[in-house]
Amino acid sequence: MKKICSALWLQFFVVIIVAKRIPTTLDGPFKPLTHRFDPLLHKGSDDLPMDHSRLKRNVTSFFPEQIALALSTSSSSMWISWITGEAQIGLNVTPHDPKTVASEVWYGKESGKYTMKQNGVSVVYSQLYPFEGLWNYTSGIIHHVKIDGLEPETKYYYKCGDSSLVAMSDELAFETFPLPAPNKYPRRIAVVGDLGLTSNTTTTIDHLIMNDPSMILMVGDLTYANQYLTTGGKGASCYSCQFPDAPIRETFQPRWDGWGRCEVRVDASYTIHRVFVK
Ligand SMILES: *[C@@H]1O[C@H](CO)[C@@H](O)[C@H](O)[C@H]1NC(C)=O
Ligand SMILES: *[C@@H]1O[C@H](CO)[C@@H](O)[C@H](O)[C@H]1NC(C)=O
Ligand SMILES: *[C@@H]1O[C@H](CO)[C@@H](O)[C@H](O)[C@H]1NC(C)=O
Repeated sequence: MKKICSALWLQFFVVIIVAKRIPTTLDGPFKPLTHRFDPLLHKGSDDLPMDHSRLKRNVTSFFPEQIALALSTSSSSMWISWITGEAQIGLNVTPHDPKTVASEVWYGKESGKYTMKQNGVSVVYSQLYPFEGLWNYTSGIIHHVKIDGLEPETKYYYKCGDSSLVAMSDELAFETFPLPAPNKYPRRIAVVGDLGLTSNTTTTIDHLIMNDPSMILMVGDLTYANQYLTTGGKGASCYSCQFPDAPIRETFQPRWDGWGRCEVRVDASYTIHRVFVK
């Protein structure tokens, strides 16, 4: 399992790059178009370092970061997730108590006017290695809130965080989909895969935002985290030949936090459909 998901997340985004006007899904249906792979295309690129501005944690105390929206099973609801508190990696890590920070989303149809509030759940996870020389990791507090009763084709403004700690996010916004009906589609769907966490990732995300999708389908992979410290983020074509004495294949969890931060500009404003595969 090479990339960021122990549960193998399939995530997508859509990038349709055409010379002039970019068609929307309402112009379709289209005949599938296949392009021959251009062997001159750049084959991979170096990972961004953890201290890169897009990967660094840029909030203090228990302010929300890595804010992400995800589709729910019904078009009138939406999941909002984020992280508070600092992840730790090293010797003798102490997990956060997820109950110490509330999971609140305040939202409404007018900017600055949050007429509705919903609470959710919070969890932490730890990766503990029973081997000398491997560092343990414990996450920040991961919050999930599902908001219900949303109206179709409506823009909602929201803030998330813990109001009693006065640690709320800035205002963000999203737009709900039309109700399912013939000739009613999300205006433009982006599909993307294998984003990684490189300088090319940020270029891809910039293109994606330029195309203003109403929904992003992410089909994985996300980024390399496995064997990250062992191979220096470069991967190994034959791990067991190169590292015959390794007792376990380590994964460097902070890469996942870096990924969550790098993607935040898309995740917090666009509905993302994630497909989970076990
Ligand atoms: C992809 O990354 C490589 C090096 O990391 C760089 O040389 C190349 O210009 C990048 N391509 C784009 C389209 O940004
Ligand atoms: C933190 O990073 C996010 C995503 O890049 C950005 O939108 C936000 O403005 C940054 N916040 C601060 C305080 O720099
Ligand atoms: C990581 O956690 C395991 C299980 O609690 C413990 O046995 C091990 O010593 C820890 N490793 C480090 C480097 O702290």
